[in-house]
Amino acid sequence: MLSAVERKIDQFINDLNDKEVSLLYTKLPHGKRLRAKLILKIAGSNLSVVKTAAVVEMIHAASLLHDDVIDDAYTRRSKPSLNALYGNKTAIMLGDILYSKGFLELNNISPEVAKIVSNAVVQLSLGELKDVSLSKTFNIDKEIYLDMIYKKTASLIEASAGAAAVLAGKPKDAYLTYGRNLGLAFQMIDDLLDITSDSETLGKPALHDFVEGKVTLPYIYLYELLESEDQKRLVLLHAKVLSKEEQAWIMQKMDEHQILLKCYTEAKELIDEAVELMNENGEEALSDIAQEMIDRNF
Ligand code: FPP
Ligand code: MG
Repeated sequence: MLSAVERKIDQFINDLNDKEVSLLYTKLPHGKRLRAKLILKIAGSNLSVVKTAAVVEMIHAASLLHDDVIDDAYTRRSKPSLNALYGNKTAIMLGDILYSKGFLELNNISPEVAKIVSNAVVQLSLGELKDVSLSKTFNIDKEIYLDMIYKKTASLIEASAGAAAVLAGKPKDAYLTYGRNLGLAFQMIDDLLDITSDSETLGKPALHDFVEGKVTLPYIYLYELLESEDQKRLVLLHAKVLSKEEQAWIMQKMDEHQILLKCYTEAKELIDEAVELMNENGEEALSDIAQEMIDRNF
């Protein structure tokens, strides 16, 4: 049960015996706890499972704290981010505390679970670094984009499913693939929402990713389909603050080439593949959570 995971996280935070950390933790919006839900759905809710779900959510929260500093994001889930409220130093340190306490607790679960989760955190960090360095260029290589989102986002969702399978004594490989597909689709949808959602819903300015230098899948496809003059124009707009006209031009070209549908379809295919794989393993209940990954509007 998800409430058992919340209680376990609260307990881990209380263990630290630090009033400031306890207060700061209350300022973090919880999100949908998708990773914890996934772990509980696969493995039930014994103590090791609840601990694993709590640790994964703490690591995820830590990574978002750091990510908001890196991305200069002043909102998270439509609320002020911790860096906006307390500054970068506090946000980074709360991230480090959540992350290291999570790692400490990982030692009390099982060596195999610890290995799967800690390896994912290495990948997560490599992916975030890649995201930062790629945003300095106009990357049009889809494989490079996919490798980056695999590491940055899919690795921890893949690890959540794999670790849960290990705890439940289920065949790990199918669950790792399921989690990987879910993670890739999740980030593809996240990148689409940056284009389709209005700035109020998203809590950040329109086309924020592109302005920040991130050439996500929709821009890669758009570039591929544009005439050469328009390709040049798109490259010139990269990583710049966009006027209303420039924003409208990008949106019109996206529309003309049906880019958003193309990206959504690709994410949906990954989800369908994941659902089918789970159905083959008698895990029909895992299709809802897969659907939840892509049925998001913020
Ligand atoms: C969100 O990407 C970022 C991630 C999924 C991973 C961030 C990872 C790190 C900062 C590595 C550090 C790790 C630890 C454990 C401290 P996004 O910016 O595309 O998504 P957003 O729209 O949610 O900000
Ligand atoms: Mg970000």
